[in-house]
Amino acid sequence: MVEYEWTQELCEAYANNLRPMIKYDHQSWAVKIAAQINSKEKKLKYLDIATGPGFLQVQLANLLKEPVLYAQDSSEFMLNIAEKEAVDSGYEIEKILSLAEELKIEDNSMDIVTCKQLLHEAQSPEKVINEVFRVTKQGGKAFIIDFDKNRGKVAARMAKIFIKVTTNKDIANNFWKSYKGGLDGKIVEEMVKNTGFSKVVYVKSGYNYFILAKK
Ligand SMILES: C[S@@+](CC[C@H](N)C(=O)[O-])C[C@H]1O[C@@H](n2cnc3c(N)ncnc32)[C@H](O)[C@@H]1O
Repeated sequence: MVEYEWTQELCEAYANNLRPMIKYDHQSWAVKIAAQINSKEKKLKYLDIATGPGFLQVQLANLLKEPVLYAQDSSEFMLNIAEKEAVDSGYEIEKILSLAEELKIEDNSMDIVTCKQLLHEAQSPEKVINEVFRVTKQGGKAFIIDFDKNRGKVAARMAKIFIKVTTNKDIANNFWKSYKGGLDGKIVEEMVKNTGFSKVVYVKSGYNYFILAKK
């Protein structure tokens, strides 16, 4: 597990440094996720856990029809950045300030749940995964993305160099620390299966795992 203190300064630096990467990171994940859901259906309720600056939520919202957006994070600073990001893109979000281990959200209420780049820093990945299951509707889908321990090492090294050149050394070092602190995606897949999701698929994607789960 990797520990970060999400101060206002770190939240702003994270958002500013990641912004140029949206196209390669969040947008590309949004396209993969949209391919797994009926994106023509109107008013799907979509929760992004540990939303950070809200980049994934906005990118996926762009591919949905009138989505109802819920953004969760344990940092109020991040939720404020995410709200501005959503409003600037023409969306309203409901902000949920809580730990992902204890979501202040009703059971079986969400059509789509995403959780990207959180588990490597969560106090209890099992509790987060149980919460993902609890809040997903019957028939709803959840998507978990994070660093895959010991997989995609060459790609991760290349990404570290790219970040160092395009942003700075500190952000590159944080990226590497987070990658090294990632969980084994196959173990996360087992944890997700153990919650009761009816179908769970693990996909290796460079240095990330992408877990797709249907309730
Ligand atoms: C690495 S950022 C990922 C942000 C976003 N999902 C993305 O991929 O760009 C991690 C985020 O998780 C939040 N966070 C950390 N621990 C958390 C917890 N236990 N519950 C909810 N959010 C948490 C942080 O405030 C931060 O916004």
